[in-house]
Amino acid sequence: MAPPFLSPSLSYLSLWASGVILAIVFLKLFHLLLRRHKLAKAMDNFPGPPTHWLFGHALEIQKTGSLDKMVSWAHQFPYAFPLWVGPFIGFLNIYEPDYAKAVYSRGDPKAPDVYSFLLQWTGKGLLVLDGSKWFQHRKLLTPGFHYDVLKPYVAVFTSSANAMLDKWEEKARENKSFDIFCDVGHMALDSLMKCTFGKGDSGLSYRDSSYYQTVADLTLLVQQRVDSFQYHNDFIYWLTPHGRRFLRACQAAHDHTDHVIRNRKAVLQDKKEQEKIQHRRHLDFLDILLGARDESGIKLSDADLRAEVDTFMFEGHDTTTSGISWFLYCMALYPEHQQRCREEAREILGDQDSFKWDDLGKMTYLTMCIKECFRLYPPVPQVYRQLSKPVDFVDGRSLPAGSLISLHIYALHRNSAVWPDPEVFDPLRFSPENASGRHPFAFMPFSAGPRNCIGQQFAMNEMKVVTALCLLRFEFSLDPSQLPIKLPQLVLRSKNGIHLHLKSLRPESGK
Ligand code: HEM
Ligand SMILES: *[C@@H]1O[C@H](CO)[C@@H](O)[C@H](O)[C@H]1NC(C)=O
Ligand SMILES: *[C@@H]1O[C@H](CO)[C@@H](O)[C@H](O)[C@H]1NC(C)=O
Repeated sequence: MAPPFLSPSLSYLSLWASGVILAIVFLKLFHLLLRRHKLAKAMDNFPGPPTHWLFGHALEIQKTGSLDKMVSWAHQFPYAFPLWVGPFIGFLNIYEPDYAKAVYSRGDPKAPDVYSFLLQWTGKGLLVLDGSKWFQHRKLLTPGFHYDVLKPYVAVFTSSANAMLDKWEEKARENKSFDIFCDVGHMALDSLMKCTFGKGDSGLSYRDSSYYQTVADLTLLVQQRVDSFQYHNDFIYWLTPHGRRFLRACQAAHDHTDHVIRNRKAVLQDKKEQEKIQHRRHLDFLDILLGARDESGIKLSDADLRAEVDTFMFEGHDTTTSGISWFLYCMALYPEHQQRCREEAREILGDQDSFKWDDLGKMTYLTMCIKECFRLYPPVPQVYRQLSKPVDFVDGRSLPAGSLISLHIYALHRNSAVWPDPEVFDPLRFSPENASGRHPFAFMPFSAGPRNCIGQQFAMNEMKVVTALCLLRFEFSLDPSQLPIKLPQLVLRSKNGIHLHLKSLRPESGK
């Protein structure tokens, strides 16, 4: 215990401390209010839906059906409207090609207000990096997606897909609909691990499938945090049960990626393996990361390395899972297109037993259907930026530097000025004749401009191989009692999964 003569100074101290804390809280609040004022003032010329003083539009955003609510607001307010998540974060929400072009043709940084929620998980990987470090990493990793690297992946996609389809053969025999989303997810993770992280031929281990669950949890928590202003402050968030769950899930994800890195490093210790790699003409993603040196010969730091592995491990499977699952749903919804894609695939396959690289370019109808499905069900429905310099829009309105932008890809793809009868599924919109006249920023499933998706080609190849194989093996139809409910969760998911009926097309599988 402190001697009695000290106690007056101790109580002074606590008085001081509370004074300082109060001042900090006050300053923080002042800072936030100033920011709210600035963001709101910048968007003065943009009318929008009514805003709750505290929640902004958060209550509507959190509701089921929020994506279509945005579309109806977009109808009401041409070009753009302010979108508030709580009292302090206001975006200009845009969904018109010229508006998208004004911002996305430049390389403005990602909005830290949203992307910082990923930091604990993905670190500063390509997705969240900005400036010269982003440029350096992008240049470094681009050769990992060269078509000579992608070519052999066709066989990997085929084997992962076939493993899933064999499993479905059994499920289909039960003559009940089932949720395909999770199986597609495991398949996509399996092929990603084989393609970019050099995993051997074995299927997914227990460790991998628990990683899959962890990512589902992490995306749910990040989306919830974006949509709930009371969770925006780090200090408060880490104290909540959700915040602690998020930290635990990050730890679990890192355990998985560390394991992948350690394994590869162990392989590299082996002299023979080293020689093999030197003789390979094209390195895979992890080879590139581990071999990377900057101008002064310094390796990527362990933190940078893990950030990229965490980023690609997530971006590389969750997006294609959403794409493939919603595509199969579209095929179930439109049996006539399903049949046409199947016939095309049969014709291309002929009497070969699997697809080759050159076949991918021949899948023209399937590709049009995939694009039309990306239009209506974009795997990444919304992306955010912060303006580094002012921007002038086509209609004469403008925004100052520092403003926050939300590009609503989902609403952009349903903009009726560009897409007549937007709700109609019509693959012919993407016939070469029809597509060539269209605004280059009208269709942005992979974003566009310098910060577009680096894995675009990888993703399209995987989509084509996997969906063609699915259609050759099964007929897909809806389960009217369990239609999917769209749910944005960083990627587009379904609240109740995607339940489909599968009918095997194999003659030998006795019904
Ligand atoms: C259907 C599949 C996919 C879709 C729809 C998609 C969509 C997107 C979009 C919209 C962005 C921009 C994000 C933003 O501005 O915040 C993006 C960026 C990115 N994607 Fe994809 N993606 C897909 C597949 C993939 C795959 C397979 C990989 C890796 C193997 C990948 C890796 C990345 C990375 C690293 C970035 C950040 C690029 C940068 O900022 O330089 N994506 N993707
Ligand atoms: C499968 O279920 C459908 C309706 O649910 C029924 O019409 C059909 O006869 C069933 N087929 C078999 C082989 O059980
Ligand atoms: C262009 O799109 C329209 C409407 O979808 C369709 O009727 C027409 O056949 C398409 N043109 C071509 C050449 O595919």
